[in-house]
Amino acid sequence: MIRQARPADVAAVVALEADTQGEDAWSEALVRDGIEGGLPTISYLVGLVEDRVAGYAVASYAGDIAELQRIGVAADVRRHGIATALLDAVVAEAPGTGANRLLLEVREDNAGALAFYAARGFVEIDRRPRYYRDGAAAVVMRIPLLKGCSF
Ligand SMILES: CC(C)(COP(=O)(O)OP(=O)(O)OC[C@H]1O[C@@H](n2cnc3c(N)ncnc32)[C@H](O)[C@@H]1OP(=O)(O)O)[C@@H](O)C(=O)NCCC(=O)NCCS
Repeated sequence: MIRQARPADVAAVVALEADTQGEDAWSEALVRDGIEGGLPTISYLVGLVEDRVAGYAVASYAGDIAELQRIGVAADVRRHGIATALLDAVVAEAPGTGANRLLLEVREDNAGALAFYAARGFVEIDRRPRYYRDGAAAVVMRIPLLKGCSF
């Protein structure tokens, strides 16, 4: 089941963030602010497996561009469709914010995530060299949100 994150989910999301994002993980303060801040420009979703917060996704909205800032699933429940359900929920909510395309950045060496995004219909539109702290490049990917939209 996918739903908006609540204040009680902060600790679980912080733990997932640390597990899935490594040294780029956001601080608890940042996650708490995002979940409790009630900003219309940022959305935290969680995926539940038997009441356990097993995955999360964070999207930001600015005008006609939505950005998938984070998506992560606990290692023991991967390949069960949780990230797919989270991404579907982001894709469903985004047009209501005025967005017509969803962008993301992913490390060029993150083969699992690249395969996941390709399976979901994202296409590479750009690369940002030396984007990450360790020198890895970011692959910029995009999926259109509106039928017939080719942005
Ligand atoms: C990438 C990630 C979010 C995928 O989550 P998930 O819940 O396992 O994904 P799903 O079960 O919805 O996968 C859907 C499809 O994507 C593809 N896919 C997902 N993970 C894959 C992997 N590691 N290798 C190859 N293909 C993969 C497959 O086609 C899969 O369908 P299948 O299981 O029927 O073969 C998860 O591996 C993760 O949290 N990784 C660490 C964090 C990360 O890299 N996040 C993205 C960058 S911020």
